[in-house]
Order: sequence, then structure tokens, then C-alpha cells
Amino acid sequence: MNPVPVPALIEPACPLSLAEGGRLLREGRLVAFPTETVYGLGGDATCDRAVAAIFEAKGRPGFNPLIVHVADPAAAEPLVEVDDRARRLMARFWPGPLTLVLPRRAGSPVSLLASAGLDSIAVRMPDHPVALDLIRAAGRPLAAPSANRSGAVSPTLADHVADSLGARVALILDGGPCRVGVESTVLDLTGPRPCLLRPGGVTAERLEAELGEPLLRAAARDRTAPKSPGMLDSHYAPALPVRLNAATAAAGEALLAFGPHPGTLNLSPDGNLEEAAANLFAMLRRLDAGDWSAIAVMPVPEHGLGLAINDRLRRAAAPRDRR
Ligand code: TXA
Ligand code: MG
Repeated sequence: MNPVPVPALIEPACPLSLAEGGRLLREGRLVAFPTETVYGLGGDATCDRAVAAIFEAKGRPGFNPLIVHVADPAAAEPLVEVDDRARRLMARFWPGPLTLVLPRRAGSPVSLLASAGLDSIAVRMPDHPVALDLIRAAGRPLAAPSANRSGAVSPTLADHVADSLGARVALILDGGPCRVGVESTVLDLTGPRPCLLRPGGVTAERLEAELGEPLLRAAARDRTAPKSPGMLDSHYAPALPVRLNAATAAAGEALLAFGPHPGTLNLSPDGNLEEAAANLFAMLRRLDAGDWSAIAVMPVPEHGLGLAINDRLRRAAAPRDRR
């Protein structure tokens, strides 16, 4: 007989459940929480045991470092070397979907496991009251990858987290659907030129306007030394095959439409990229649960948030190599 899986504990975010979340985190347990991008699987970033538990719960390869979440820009200072360029971006885009990769500060309390042994650490201040309250309740920075099994579609609802991680997480704080829907932009500021490691919620155009210089783009297929291992070719993948740039669905396929076209589901009938980003992962999950042979996706324009959407779609469609 199969053991009955223990259901994950989902609690609406409120002062009581937030205090409970803070207590669990201080004990080294894992708490899933909403951010403006996707749900995160949080653990104490300064505790090796908690960080190891995150990798274990996700089935994530240990070479893929985690983002460290803070409740205000000042809280990043003891963790990483913050230069003027970083300070300007924090002032402009925090709280918000921008992650900065910065040199690890000597004496930084962040677990070396969290940064996968790199001499840099990724930091971000999420724009969600529940996330910020939880970090404050824990009283320490939180390492938090997206709260899904490694390689799978990211969660934008508390139920997605429960489906994906179940009892691997001590508590799931429910804050409703995530507003942005794609993960944060990851920008590497460890070199002389800013380098875009992952397109995300803050568009490359806005970063370039603020910095006054074009961003370097990480070579997507640098397999020898993935600077941002989230750049692995296959990622964010549903179980069904995904076919890109579809004009119509073939027999048996579900069609994920964009713009004024009929489809099984439509990312945004008005062709609005913000709406499409917010719908992307939930719609991929819904189609993945259906009786289809594949998911065909109509083209999405390659500018603004479209960069992040197309990045996730390309990885969802990439040949699977789960090792
Ligand atoms: O929106 C988000 O960023 C969400 C929410 C929960 O905050 N988090 C998230 O985490 O997407 P995760 O672990 O799924 O993605 C983190 C990305 C990966 O691509 C990882 O390789 C990269 O950030 N990263 C983390 N630390 C890094 C570092 N020191 N150097 C380069 N890349 C790093
Ligand atoms: Mg992820």
C-alpha cells in the first residue's frame, strides 16, 4: 500500500500565520510565501541546514545558487559589497523584481551553500507585503528559490506550491495570485559592465535607461561555466511537449494564444505583455493537466516583458535533459 501523502499546510497570510512562519524559519524549517513574481520556498539564508533542506526539497542541483531576500536595502549591506551603481538600482527598483549579483562581503553571514560556493551572492527585496513581513518576522535574510521542484513550472498560486512540494514544506502562506507572474530579472554587477543573466520582471530597457549603458547578455549556451545556472536549457517545463511559434493547433494539441486569436487559453486577448506574464505559468499548468498531446504556443513579441516570457517558453520547449 502506498503511504497517504501528508497534505501541505496552507494558511492565509495574517499576523498569526506570519509569526508562526517566522518561528519555523528561526528553527531552520522551510516556509513558502508569495512574492510579486512567483511563490518562494524560504529558509534561513544564514543556516547551512536550512539551505541544504531547500536544495533537497526542490531536488535542485547544488551548483545552482539561491537568491537571498532582504526586507530593505540596508539589510543587504552586511551580506554583499554594495557599490554606487548597485545602490542607485536599489533606490530605483527596490522593492521589486530585480535581483542583483554582487561580491560576497568578507564575514558575510550567508551560508556558502546558498551561493553554491561562488564568491558572489544574489540579493533582492521583493515587492510583496507578506514576503517583507515574513523576512522581518524571521529576523534574518531568507534564501528562496521558486517553490517548485527543480526544472518544473514556477508557482503563482499557493495551490501550485502544495501540488509541487506537498509535505516537503512546513507551512505555505497564501497571499493569492502573484501580480507579475515571471521571476525577477537577474543582473550581474560583479564585473565592470552590467550583465543580464536572466530576463525578468524589470525590463532590460528600463535597466539600460537607468544605467545609461547597454547590458551585456550572458551567453545562453555557456555550458562549461553557467554564470547563472537558471540558464540551463530545459527549465520551467511542463510534462507535455511545448511547440513554439504556432499559428494554429495541430490535431490533439492545446493552443495557448496571444492577441486576438481563438485558443484553448489566451495569455492576453489584448496583446498586453503584463497580463500575459501574469497568466503564463498558471495557464501552462492548466493545459499540462489536460488530455492533450502537446502545448502549442503562439508567438509573443520580443520586447519589454516579452523577453522574460519568451525566455521561459524557450526553456519549456527545450529538449529535456533531466540528468
Ligand atoms: O522572482 C524570483 O527571483 C523568485 C522569487 C521567489 O524571489 N526566485 C527565483 O529563484 O526565481 P530561483 O532560485 O528559481 O532562481 C535564481 C536565479 C537562478 O537562475 C540562479 O542561477 C541565479 O538566480 N543566481 C543566484 N545566485 C547567483 C549568483 N551568485 N551568481 C549568478 N547567478 C545566481
Ligand atoms: Mg526557479
